Amino acid sequence: MRSLSAWVVLSFVAAAAALPAKDCAHKVKESVPPPRGWTKTSPAPADHIIELRIALPQPNFAELERHLYEVSDPFHDRYGQHLSKEEVESLVAPEDESVHLVNEWLASHGIYEDNLSRSPARDWVLVKVPVSQAEEMLKTEYHVWTHDASGEAVVRTTAYSLPEHLDDHIELVQPTTMFSRMKSLRSTFRFDSDEEQKSAKIAANAPPISVPSASGGHVDASCNQTITISCIQQLYNAVGFKPSAKNGNQIGITGYLEQFANIEDLQTFYAEQRPDALNSTFKTVLINGGLNNQTLDEAGAEANLDVQFAFGLTFPTPATFFSTGGRPPFKPDILTPSNTNEPYSEWLDFILAQKEPPQTISTSYADDEQTVPVSFAKRVCNGFAQLGARGVSLTFSSGDGGVGDGEEDPALQECFTNDGRNATRFVPLFPPSCPFVTAVGGTIHVPETAVFFSGGGFSDVFPRPAYQEQAVSKFLKTLPEGTYKGLFNPNGRAIPDVAAQADLFRIFLSGRPVSIGGTSAASPTFAGIVSLLNSARLSKGLRPLGFLNPLVYAIQAADPSAFNDITTGNNPGCGTPGFNATKGWDPVTGVGTPNFGKLKDIVTLDLLHIAGLT
Ligand SMILES: *[C@@H]1O[C@H](CO)[C@@H](O)[C@H](O)[C@H]1NC(C)=O
Ligand SMILES: *[C@@H]1O[C@H](CO)[C@@H](O)[C@H](O)[C@H]1NC(C)=O
Ligand SMILES: *[C@@H]1O[C@H](CO)[C@@H](O)[C@H](O)[C@H]1NC(C)=O
Ligand SMILES: *[C@@H]1O[C@H](CO)[C@@H](O)[C@H](O)[C@H]1NC(C)=O
Ligand SMILES: *[C@@H]1O[C@H](CO)[C@@H](O)[C@H](O)[C@H]1NC(C)=O
Ligand SMILES: *[C@@H]1O[C@H](CO)[C@@H](O)[C@H](O)[C@H]1NC(C)=O
Repeated sequence: MRSLSAWVVLSFVAAAAALPAKDCAHKVKESVPPPRGWTKTSPAPADHIIELRIALPQPNFAELERHLYEVSDPFHDRYGQHLSKEEVESLVAPEDESVHLVNEWLASHGIYEDNLSRSPARDWVLVKVPVSQAEEMLKTEYHVWTHDASGEAVVRTTAYSLPEHLDDHIELVQPTTMFSRMKSLRSTFRFDSDEEQKSAKIAANAPPISVPSASGGHVDASCNQTITISCIQQLYNAVGFKPSAKNGNQIGITGYLEQFANIEDLQTFYAEQRPDALNSTFKTVLINGGLNNQTLDEAGAEANLDVQFAFGLTFPTPATFFSTGGRPPFKPDILTPSNTNEPYSEWLDFILAQKEPPQTISTSYADDEQTVPVSFAKRVCNGFAQLGARGVSLTFSSGDGGVGDGEEDPALQECFTNDGRNATRFVPLFPPSCPFVTAVGGTIHVPETAVFFSGGGFSDVFPRPAYQEQAVSKFLKTLPEGTYKGLFNPNGRAIPDVAAQADLFRIFLSGRPVSIGGTSAASPTFAGIVSLLNSARLSKGLRPLGFLNPLVYAIQAADPSAFNDITTGNNPGCGTPGFNATKGWDPVTGVGTPNFGKLKDIVTLDLLHIAGLT
């Protein structure tokens, strides 16, 4: 390795000598209108260090996508024949010419192999440079921009350029035009009052609620107001299933925004809800300066919720919490290096470099889709496709604002386009809008109904993938002519794909019981069920489920009882009542909540036979 890199460096030096002049003609790569809700405060300090992420094109991505769909399509001969890490890397690798020309450009700015890092497939190059140098390389000016509502500052620009001859060899450079603000999808959160505890006790003595699809046909009455591990097992027909700790199955949760999951709280939770799991724990992996301060008072509500339910449902499956840093607020006076890119790409760099990532991974964080530059959203989405091709199932919370952004104060609502037109528009979230992940909406109560905040709608960036065309167009035909015309893109990727319980979850936080909700609860819950399905498959020598969506819609078409169709409730937002949950797929709860028992039979017996297609 060492000698190879020495050779590479020498060849760059040689190439640098023959370079065209530094100030060759530049071409604007990306330009955005001043972002709504941000104020340009001052020029960025010249010596402030930023880490530029440079994306080189992936000319064979269409080929990777073809492989992904073949190995994820239950009716295809190659179903389950996932690609290896090396196969995926070779399919997303840039052309040698792109690598060479970008190296040449960097060298002309004094940046050599020692000064940069690369993703395993070499499709991303990362370099730390002072603002003054970035400005010269990108023919731009960086400013400090302040977010009006939160006061947070970032160093950004509204346009940047690249030498003309690199236009086809660099897809994007960030942080430049990215003004998105990642949020944790946790809409409600309160400590249990004495009154609630009293009424929960009364409910505990009430007769069970009849739910024909549940384990044994009924669910404890208490589950109508407090969701526990046992409630999920009953409601989703998973009582009595024991996953294996030793069949290679693993589950992962991602954490961002400085959150960490507290182990003491997990033990308190287990003592109450999962006594057989007491003393078991999980692995914490810190990425890019992620935190894991086990101080009880500083436990993260989001991280604790995700870990307690996902790991509680799947015990004794080996479990990992990924804590990714990368959003330090910019402090104008402290000239420490800061990386204020959205951290999904940091996590992707890490996880794609792993030989054996967990087969099921849940994420409860997202951004308003329109605040993420399209080029960046597409590249991150392509990263999720790479994981799917390797056999990893990714679930994401669909959002907590219904069709809007969850903001009740009209003055703060983001239900307007960010393109300078300021037209009224629903607010889909990214990453759930990426077609290569499974977006999980929310339900509440027993029997289940859609929860009002369940994020749903249609992407303005990603076109509708074939796997959901039939289900979604059927729904669209039921909408009265002209419904919400201009507020959403009827040809976009539709959200969510599935749903799960999303409110009144009982967790422990800093030593106290808390009732918490949000589609943040739904994603780890659905991921828990997926992980149990993977465990059943791995124990039979079958491959993990991988990218779920083609299978989800195929099963729904063939055996609708495998999902509990949610047909009541709606998801208001942007001053409208939102969409209705209806029979079949809908943009509130997708195809519905899982029936584990039925899904297990389908995915462990002959898929084609069960689907009635033999
Ligand atoms: C690149 O790395 C070399 C060796 O570590 C260092 O001397 C040089 O200053 C670096 N250049 C830049 C632009 O960071
Ligand atoms: C469940 O709780 C909701 C809201 O409090 C209530 O309207 C409904 O009647 C309850 N359902 C049952 C079966 O008790
Ligand atoms: C957990 O550890 C405690 C203290 O070592 C022990 O008393 C208890 O039996 C353990 N529980 C389980 C379920 O392993
Ligand atoms: C965690 O944070 C607290 C308060 O910020 C600090 O006092 C403590 O030393 C930190 N603990 C660790 C393990 O970093
Ligand atoms: C956009 O339109 C809304 C509603 O008409 C208005 O409240 C808001 O001030 C407008 N914002 C801008 C930046 O023009
Ligand atoms: C939702 O259902 C209500 C009641 O049936 C109906 O009036 C309304 O038009 C529906 N909304 C949409 C967007 O389909």
